[in-house]
Amino acid sequence: MSVTGRAADRVQRELYEEARVAARHAYAPYSRFFVGAMAEGASGARWRGVNVENAAYPAGVCAERVALGALVAGGEREVRTIAVATADGRDVAPCGLCLQALAELGDPDVVCRVGGQVRVFALHELLAAPFTSSALDPAETRP
Ligand code: THU
Repeated sequence: MSVTGRAADRVQRELYEEARVAARHAYAPYSRFFVGAMAEGASGARWRGVNVENAAYPAGVCAERVALGALVAGGEREVRTIAVATADGRDVAPCGLCLQALAELGDPDVVCRVGGQVRVFALHELLAAPFTSSALDPAETRP
């Protein structure tokens, strides 16, 4: 797959590096794939997350959703930018579940490493048609 997205600017690179530092705290004894995320909210505050795995594998959670949880718990409702990185700097981009979780809270810039380069995508480029609350209109969901 060819590398798309845009080159990261200085602030986006800084956020990526912060995500990489955060990844040192990842709890990933099963996959040994240590991930960190930094979410920047509308306030400008930055919220960190790491992946937290579990012996019951599906109970594990990705770094991005942990960062989103921190953002919401901190009183914010909108994510403007999210960076994701591994502790060793290898390629990583958000999984489909995290893209959907991000779409609930905005259309952020997503900073991640693909094809060996730190790139920036709009969330809607990675998830063109998210499921949204508008689909939950009760009149439409009645059988
Ligand atoms: N993981 C993340 O935390 N974020 C990603 O963007 C990709 C995958 C985690 C989930 C699991 O703990 C480990 O990496 C291996 O899939």
